[in-house]
Amino acid sequence: MRCLSFLLALLLTLPATAQDRHADEHSYAQPDQVRIRDLGLDLAVDFDKHQLAGTATLQLEWANEAARELVLDTRDLAISKVEARSGKRKWREVEFALAQRDERFGSKLTITLPRQYEQVRIAYATSPQASGLQWLAPSMTSGGKTPFMFSQSQAIHARSWVPLQDTPSVRFTYTARIRTPADVMALMSADNDPAAPRDGDYTFAMPQAIPSYLMAIAAGDLVFKPISGRAGVWAEPQVVDKAVKEFEDTEKMIAVTESLYGPYRWGRYDLLILPPSFPFGGMENPRLSFITPTVIAGDQSLVSLIAHELAHSWSGNLVTNASWKDMWLNEGFTSYVENRIVEALYGKERADMEFVISRNGLKAEMAQIPAEQQVLMLPARVGSDPEDALGAIAYDKGAWFLQFLELRFGREAFDPFLRAWFDGHAFQSATSEEFLAFLKAELMAKNPAAVTEAEVMAWMTAPGIPDFAPATESPRFAAVDAARADWLEDRKAARDLKTSAWTTQEWVYFLEGMPETLAPERLVELDQAFRFTGTGNGEIAQRWYPLSERSQYFEARPAMSLFLRKIGRRKLIMPTYEALAATADGLAFASQIYLMAKPGYHPITSASVEALLAKAKAAPAQ
Ligand code: BES
Ligand code: ZN
Repeated sequence: MRCLSFLLALLLTLPATAQDRHADEHSYAQPDQVRIRDLGLDLAVDFDKHQLAGTATLQLEWANEAARELVLDTRDLAISKVEARSGKRKWREVEFALAQRDERFGSKLTITLPRQYEQVRIAYATSPQASGLQWLAPSMTSGGKTPFMFSQSQAIHARSWVPLQDTPSVRFTYTARIRTPADVMALMSADNDPAAPRDGDYTFAMPQAIPSYLMAIAAGDLVFKPISGRAGVWAEPQVVDKAVKEFEDTEKMIAVTESLYGPYRWGRYDLLILPPSFPFGGMENPRLSFITPTVIAGDQSLVSLIAHELAHSWSGNLVTNASWKDMWLNEGFTSYVENRIVEALYGKERADMEFVISRNGLKAEMAQIPAEQQVLMLPARVGSDPEDALGAIAYDKGAWFLQFLELRFGREAFDPFLRAWFDGHAFQSATSEEFLAFLKAELMAKNPAAVTEAEVMAWMTAPGIPDFAPATESPRFAAVDAARADWLEDRKAARDLKTSAWTTQEWVYFLEGMPETLAPERLVELDQAFRFTGTGNGEIAQRWYPLSERSQYFEARPAMSLFLRKIGRRKLIMPTYEALAATADGLAFASQIYLMAKPGYHPITSASVEALLAKAKAAPAQ
C-alpha cells in the first residue's frame, strides 16, 4: 500500500516530458488496440453538391486480442452503412455509433464488431462545409471554365473527407478509384501518371505507408509539364509554363538533398500549383507537393518554399512526428534542411538572409506568446487545437537548434548523423525523446566536449532562445540597414538609394526595419520610387499593406482590397487584416472586404479572419 502511494506520488511529480509522447491528444483513435494498415477509396467527385461520396475500405491489424471496437475520427461525414469481412468472404453489416460533434476534433465513430474482422467498409459522403476541402467555382480559377477542388489534410482535416485514424502515429498504404466529370483531371498524393488519359475515371496507388495528414486529392483543369525525368509541374494550362520556368531548379534541389541525406525514396516528385486561394504556402503531400501560386515571383526569389516542401520528403514524410506536440521534428528539421538546400544552390549569402528574416519573425512572435509555448518539446495540452502550434517556434527555433548542433559538431559529423536519423527511422513516427536518445548515443557520446546536456535541454525544453545560440550576420542586410537609415534620417531621397541589385529578401528586410508608422507623405515617396502598392510579390505586399494602413496611407487601400480578395494564403493576408482591425474605420473596411472575399476563401482562412474580426469587434478600437 505504502509502495503504491509512493509510486503514485512519484508519477504525479514526474515532469510532463515523462508522459508517453507517442500518445496523440488530437485523435479519438486507439492505435494500441487496432491499426489501419491499408485504405482503399472509391469516391465520386460531385462539383454540384460540393461532395465526395463512396466508400473507404480499411485493412485492420489488431493489436489487442480482446478488442472488438474500431474507433475512427470523422468530421461532418454522413455515414450510411458500415460492413465488415475477413478475406474474400461476404460483407456483413455491422453496428456503428457517431458521437456528438466536437468543434475541434469532430465526431468519434465507434464501430462495434462481433469479432476481429480483417476489413471494414464504410459508405459515406462529405459535407459541403468539409474543413479539409475547398470547392472553387470556375470563376475562381485561371481558366475560368472548369471547377476546381482540393484537400488540405494537415493537421486534423483528413477526417473531414475520409473516416480514418487521423493521427500521425499510424501509417498505411492506400489505393483509390476517383470519378470526376470527364473534362476534369484528378490527382492524389500517390503515383500520378503524367500520361494518364483524361477521362474522368482515375486509379491511384500509394505503396509507401503514410500518415493520414498526407492524404491528398485535387481535381480541375490540370495539365503536366516535365522539369526532369522524375520531376514536373501540374497546373492549369495558363500557369504551367511560368511555373516550370520558376521552379526549373527542382531537380537540382532533389539531387543536392540526396547527396546530403540519402536517396529520395518516393519515386516521382511533382509540384501541383493551386489557385491563389490555397491557404498555405505549400504542403508536402508525398510525390506531389501542393504549392501556392504566390511564390511564382518571376525571378525565382521565393523558391526556398519548394526546397522546404521537398525537404519534407525526408523530415516529416519519411520520419514523422508521432504527435503534433513534437511538430518541430517535422518543421524545424525541414526548415534546417531547406536552408542547406538554398545554401548549396544559391550560396551562403542568400541562405543567411533567409535565416535572418525567419529569426526576426521568431523574435517578434516570441514576444507575443506565453513562455510555456516557447519550447520545442510541447507538453500535452489536452483539448488544444493543433493548429495553434503552427508558429515560428517549431520552424525557426527548431532549425536554429539544428544549426547550433551543426556548428558545434561540424558538418563532417552532423550531416551523416542526420542522414542516419532519417535512415534509422524511415517510414516510422518519432518523438522528441527518441531524438534526444539518438543524439546522445550517436553524436554526443562520440564527441563529449562539443555540447553539454544542459545546452541541449535549454533548446528543447526551456522558453526563449538560449544566449549561446549562434548568430547569423548578413553583410547584404547591413547595407540595407544603412540605406534605410539614410532615408529615415533624410540624408537621401528614396529614389537615390542604391537598390537596383536588391532581391526580394532585401526588400522584405528593408520594410521590416521601418518604424511602426510613418507620415503618409513618406509612403507616397516610397511608392513613387519603388511602386510597392499593387506589387505582385506577396512577401512584399504582406509587409507593405500593414505599414501603409498603420500610417494611414489610404491611397493603398484599393490595391490592398484587391490583394485581400485575390489571395487566400493565410500568412500573406493576416498581417493586413490585423493592421486594419486596429482602428474602427479599418475594421469596417476589413469587414466589407471579407464579405466579398469569403466565397473565395478556404474554410481554414475564413476561420482565421472571422476569429480576428470577431475579437476586434468585441474589444473595439478607440
Ligand atoms: N506542412 C506545412 C504546412 C502546414 C503545417 C499545414 C501545419 C497545416 C498545419 C508546410 O510544409 C509548410 O511549412 N508550409 C509553409 C511554407 C514554409 C516555406 C515555411 C507555409 O505554408 O507557409
Ligand atoms: Zn513544412
